[in-house]
Amino acid sequence: MCGIVAAIAETNIVPTLIEGLNKLEYRGYDSAGIAIVNQDGVERYRALGRVSELEKKTQDLKATAGIAHTRWATHGVPSKRNAHPHVSGGVAVVHNGIIENYESLREELIAQGYVFESETDTETIAHLIELILKTESSLFEAVRQTTQKLVGAYAIAVIEESHPELIVVAREGSPLLLGVSESGIYAASDASALLQVTQQLIYLENGDIAQLKNNQFCITDQAGTPVAREIVVSQLSADAVDLGNYQHYMQKEIFEQPDALANTIEIVASSDQIHTQLFGAQAPQIFKEIDRILILACGTSNYAGQVAKYWLESIAKVPTSVEVASEYRYRTTVPNPRQLVVAISQSGETADTLAALRFAKSLGQEKTFAICNVPESAIVRECELRFITRAGPEIGVASTKAFTTQLAALFMLTLAVAKQRGVLFPAEEGQYLHELRHLPAAVIEVLKLENSIKVWAEKFSSKQDAIFLGRGRHYPIALEGALKLKEISYIHAEAYPAGELKHGPLALIDSEMPVVAIAPNDELLEKLKSNLQEVKARGGELFVFADQGSHITQSDEIHILYLPEHYGELSPILHTVALQLFAYHCALMKGNDVDKPRNLAKSVTVE
Ligand code: F6R
Repeated sequence: MCGIVAAIAETNIVPTLIEGLNKLEYRGYDSAGIAIVNQDGVERYRALGRVSELEKKTQDLKATAGIAHTRWATHGVPSKRNAHPHVSGGVAVVHNGIIENYESLREELIAQGYVFESETDTETIAHLIELILKTESSLFEAVRQTTQKLVGAYAIAVIEESHPELIVVAREGSPLLLGVSESGIYAASDASALLQVTQQLIYLENGDIAQLKNNQFCITDQAGTPVAREIVVSQLSADAVDLGNYQHYMQKEIFEQPDALANTIEIVASSDQIHTQLFGAQAPQIFKEIDRILILACGTSNYAGQVAKYWLESIAKVPTSVEVASEYRYRTTVPNPRQLVVAISQSGETADTLAALRFAKSLGQEKTFAICNVPESAIVRECELRFITRAGPEIGVASTKAFTTQLAALFMLTLAVAKQRGVLFPAEEGQYLHELRHLPAAVIEVLKLENSIKVWAEKFSSKQDAIFLGRGRHYPIALEGALKLKEISYIHAEAYPAGELKHGPLALIDSEMPVVAIAPNDELLEKLKSNLQEVKARGGELFVFADQGSHITQSDEIHILYLPEHYGELSPILHTVALQLFAYHCALMKGNDVDKPRNLAKSVTVE
């Protein structure tokens, strides 16, 4: 997704802008640009492709105020022409989000004589500000009046040639925060861009407009009335996002999972009891009152929710439904005020999940719970209860450690709800917590399978299509394995509950259609073995992720990899790690940009 960095300071801000863009690279983008303002006016530099290309062009540039952007194409193809900043006269603008009424604004502006250089919605903002500045001397006022004409979501940063000492920013819908330090004032769409200069952050709220000037800032609402916003000290550290000795962030993040899981479950590290208060002071009361759980999430986070449904219904005995957030937000549902609404999101800024959460609340469902990896995010701020996973920043676009830590959090939530509802016996509680604490060590053992998985990836990477099969709580893991494979290796992959095979997908099986099966030694194993025979009988090649005790007969068509132990309820987490390595090595074999897969963005802050 698009990223914004803006800086105004006493010293040269160009290196800060470039470093900020580097930190935002993980969000996914196709072009980058910078505009600076000084006594000579506005200068703009743009490059298609990587931030490093922009860096080459701006090596000798110096300025004390500027704005910068990474663009992920929405309106108009990825090109230098469509890259931000967009200019109109002496105005330069960077923008995240989507202006929904841009076509009518564009027509009005063309009628007024403006000529559009790009296909973007952003260019309308630049022209609107320029138009207002013809009769209005204050840049702040021009931006404020412009925002009143915009329908949609935006975060913007603006500079203008007759105000070289000033940056104006505004937000509605898309995230934007300020960074405050002794030597400058900064703005960005994501905290990671600002941690290089400060940890003191101010999260702007919808409708906020801020003026950054002379090491000071002033924030108002859309009516121009000053508003106070709290300064928070970020818990994130700048070096947490360095690549270290790894080749890719995704690889680093896969191998960080033992630590990420250990950090996330630290809270139950030395206890045989789960304390419900760890989810918030109100949690014991709320968990007692609820009669259903509704999980809202997108993509990989949604699959975490789908695994949790198995746990919540079998262990905590609470009816649970899992909805794709983008569907729920526009669906007519039957609201239930006694339902706990759980929003799961790595970033906490996913537009659809946030909107679905707000929609659920607007229906009178006030009991809300966030599972998130970013403590300061919008979803966390808008939920009554929360659990922050401690995965650390996730930079690779394909989610790995965020997913497995979400699963650990959801398992702890299951135990807490079960306990509060009186359906968890102390012996079971102790046993589940014991298994949870063993998880980091168990993941280390799975990571040791990397070389064998690499050999499989060599065979697999030339395939065009694949089918993934799983049953029970491993069906969502089959979905996740297929998603991981398609998003980074671009191999087309679909996942099915294994029992569904003969209801249609079996027609696809031949020697060109490999099948990846998740075959833990659980109560559904024998059923799954029959499904594997159905594939074998049709000439399909099978790649089976089994575990101790699965006892599946190896043959030329059935390749088997045994995970070191059978892991009961938490087995989905271990199988996920193996499937992550599999997707990673398939993508490497194909020479793909693993951390920045084509067309994808890390944090999907537009609809
Ligand atoms: C896939 C992936 C996405 C995200 C989805 C939701 O690897 O990362 O499917 O899971 O975009 O993002 P969050 O969790 O930030 O809400």
